[in-house]
Order: sequence, then structure tokens, then C-alpha cells
Amino acid sequence: MRETIPIASDHAGVDLKERLKRELLALGYAPLDLGTDGADSVDYPDYAHPVAEKVERGEVQRGILLCGTGLGMAYAANRHHGVRAAVAWTPEVAHLSREHNDANVLVLPARCISEDTGVEILKEWLATPFAGGRHSRRVAKIEPGEGT
Ligand code: RB5
Repeated sequence: MRETIPIASDHAGVDLKERLKRELLALGYAPLDLGTDGADSVDYPDYAHPVAEKVERGEVQRGILLCGTGLGMAYAANRHHGVRAAVAWTPEVAHLSREHNDANVLVLPARCISEDTGVEILKEWLATPFAGGRHSRRVAKIEPGEGT
């Protein structure tokens, strides 16, 4: 069965979201588009929270968010328990966000990267497993009060 991956953006990320949806389909995933759909200005938290809630509840393994810088989406998504939303602006950052940080939400800064770079980042992020080991201990310590 195809893995469902929720994806959402504000107005700044709509074009790249459409491109990433096509790439996800071509890679065998089932993108679940949670908006926004057009160029009208919207508020990024309204789109970050629904994706993060799906990850928090365990309905999906991972999700994707896009806004202009990636920052607002990451701030909102990271308020959710168990969500590790990583802004990635190069494939290397995407790789390390998975390998070291077990990121479960990829956040793309749509105004700061080309569409082709966005696709490369997506592919690297999807393909990279968490390394575990010492990184598991560090990830566990992200939660306040855990292991500190
Ligand atoms: C929208 O203008 C912009 O603020 C938003 O896309 C994002 O960059 C916020 O963090």
C-alpha cells in the first residue's frame, strides 16, 4: 500500500507544493494535500497544525510543510508532541535531519530554494533512515525533562 504523506503550504509554497506532489506520486507515495490551493494570502499556522496533528496522533509516519522561509511552519509544527520538524535548504541538511535528528516533518523554504533543489531535498529526506545509536539518546533528550 502507498504511504500517505500529508503536505501543506501557505501562499508562498503553493507552486513548489504542486511540484512535490507530482514527485511524491511518481515515487510511489500518496500525497494528501491539506492546502492552501492558491495565491491568496493565508496564515501558515492554519496549515502547519493539521499536518503536525496527523504525525502527533500516529495517523501518518511523516509530513511535509512549505512556506517562504520554512521558519513559521517549523515553529508551529514543533509545538506538537513527538513532532520533529526540520527546515532543510540543501539535500545535505535534509540527509542529516533524518540520519541524526529523526525528523518526521520536512519543512521547505520555498522562497529561498529553486524547485529543482526542493525536489532533490525531498528525495534525499525520504530515502534517508535514522541512524539510531547515540542519536537516539540525543533525540530522546529533546523532550523537556527526559534524560536531562
Ligand atoms: C509569508 O509572507 C511568509 O511570512 C511565510 O511564508 C513564512 O516565510 C513564515 O515563516
